Amino acid sequence: PQVSASDTITRLVRDIADFPEPGVLFKDITPLLADAAGFAEVVEALAEPYRGQVDVVLGIEARGFILAAPVALALGVGFVPVRKPGKLPHETTEISYDLEYGSETLQLHTDAIGAGSRVLVVDDVLATGGTARAAVDLVERAGGTIAAVAVLMELSFLPGREVLGDVPLHVLHTF
Ligand code: PRP
Repeated sequence: PQVSASDTITRLVRDIADFPEPGVLFKDITPLLADAAGFAEVVEALAEPYRGQVDVVLGIEARGFILAAPVALALGVGFVPVRKPGKLPHETTEISYDLEYGSETLQLHTDAIGAGSRVLVVDDVLATGGTARAAVDLVERAGGTIAAVAVLMELSFLPGREVLGDVPLHVLHTF
């Protein structure tokens, strides 16, 4: 299924030049999400290696949510959100990390991940790796175990894979 999911991503993810700022080539997944067969195929390909292997799927705001929720349903486990600051209503733990310019903070509810819980982190893109690394660190701080980080796309000209180190990485398509 992975070869076919890769082809589907090639066909249905479009490049948008100079978005959100000049010089950036943005990977727009909206045509993929709008295609029922393509959407189902990538959700299944993200989930399939982890059937029976995880206790929860964690999604990262905002595009990560769109993929992580159906992956959780496909695996028959719950969904937990990691969100940008000020969005989660209960007590949170947070991590800040550097972006190319400035910084970003992500938050997780302190009671969202049980000790020893096996967690699959799902997002759309692995780029610099800062976002996925922050999610992994939040889960580990909460006492959870990372089964893997699963993404549609890896941008291999950026250091995301190195930033994740030993964390298992499941990639459907590499640009
Ligand atoms: C994008 C993407 C990943 C992250 C990857 O999110 O959805 O979460 O960047 O980049 P990194 O590997 O360099 O950290 P973005 O911050 O654009 O948020 P959005 O999903 O809310 O648009």
